[in-house]
Amino acid sequence: MSKKTVLTGITTTGTPHIGNYLGAIKPAIEASENPAFNSYFFLADFHALIKCQEPERVARSTREIAATWLALGLDTDKATFYRQTDIPEITELTWILTCQTSKGLMNRAHAYKAAVDANRDAGNDDLDDGVTMGLFSYPILMAADILMFNADIIPVGKDQVQHIEMARDIAGRFNHQFEPLFTLPQAQVDEETQLIPGLDGRKMSKSYNNTIPLFSSSDDLRKLINQIVTDTRAPGEPKDPDNTLMHLYRCFASEAESAAMRQRFIEGIGWGDAKKELFEYIDAHLTAPRARYNELMNDLGEVEAVLHKGAEKAREYSAPFLDQVRHAVGIRSLTDNSAGKQKEEVKEKAKSAEEIARAEEGRRRAILMQIRPLLEQVEQAEDKAAAAQALVAEKTAQVESLKKKARQKAQNELELLTEELADFL
Ligand code: TRP
Repeated sequence: MSKKTVLTGITTTGTPHIGNYLGAIKPAIEASENPAFNSYFFLADFHALIKCQEPERVARSTREIAATWLALGLDTDKATFYRQTDIPEITELTWILTCQTSKGLMNRAHAYKAAVDANRDAGNDDLDDGVTMGLFSYPILMAADILMFNADIIPVGKDQVQHIEMARDIAGRFNHQFEPLFTLPQAQVDEETQLIPGLDGRKMSKSYNNTIPLFSSSDDLRKLINQIVTDTRAPGEPKDPDNTLMHLYRCFASEAESAAMRQRFIEGIGWGDAKKELFEYIDAHLTAPRARYNELMNDLGEVEAVLHKGAEKAREYSAPFLDQVRHAVGIRSLTDNSAGKQKEEVKEKAKSAEEIARAEEGRRRAILMQIRPLLEQVEQAEDKAAAAQALVAEKTAQVESLKKKARQKAQNELELLTEELADFL
């Protein structure tokens, strides 16, 4: 069975936090170790422009996210890791897909509808106020990201599921209208990892301002963990083990360690002590990748080089595939008269005819090298015609006396000799 392709993108607008790590990066890196999958992970920097008009922030986030994935041990020989904007085929595909996407489909996108609702609630007559075409057609860019590599499985947060469904719709429409070139992708949502709590107990998210940056210094990590909201129970009083500290602890620790910690909450461990244990556990877990992260952030040339290699690898797929897509919609060389799929066969044939010609030329040159001394003898002879005829007669006799393979070889030489000496024969 052929390998399934897993693909996911990370918008480059923020600093990676523990929620991103546990919910997206860690499971993705683990999946990329599984030989049953091809994985594509990329920095969605064109997506960043949709919601962020701060160039420094986009640039910084791109550096941080790239370094984070590498520091956490992503093996870029196994996974294809690249920056969206290094793949021009994605942008080109976006336009082709834009021309296949009905506006009505985009009207239903959550992000766009939320903006319209916000305007309506604010009593703004212009319901599209503040909506850019980038925001409006965002799902098409995302469809291009996915369809460009014929990805099967797209691990995402719940808020993105609608976009994967739209990518399916767009792919289906293209396949029906032109040629069935695109795989229909499927979203994969891991409920468990969607619920990493932040400092206030709500889902850890940039928009709630309750995140713990993944690679903050040890000191900052301790301070942030100390800010995690708890109740007012005193040390010694039994605590509800379903609390934020326990939840975070469980994300890092083994089952046995988690069970032991749970028991200690029931037995009344103080919040301060529990925070200390949580800090120590997370800090120990992050020490090595944090050091690597800092190293990479001080050697961004290395990170840039890794991304370039990734882009090259990705384009080995995207460039020829986009050629097929362009052909399917009619963007072709002026001299290409072939229609539809036929063209592939024609191209195949043309290619093999050309290959045969090239092989033939090579063979001819090799034989010529063999017979060059004989030809020279004829050249230098007084009576060239007599010499040529004698040579050809000799070769003919040789051919007749030889067997199979040797005979074929001599026969080839004879043919060329006859050709070259035609003037004299
Ligand atoms: N829009 C996604 C997000 O904000 C990021 C993203 C861009 C993406 N392109 C993608 C995710 C393709 C999966 C597949 O989270």
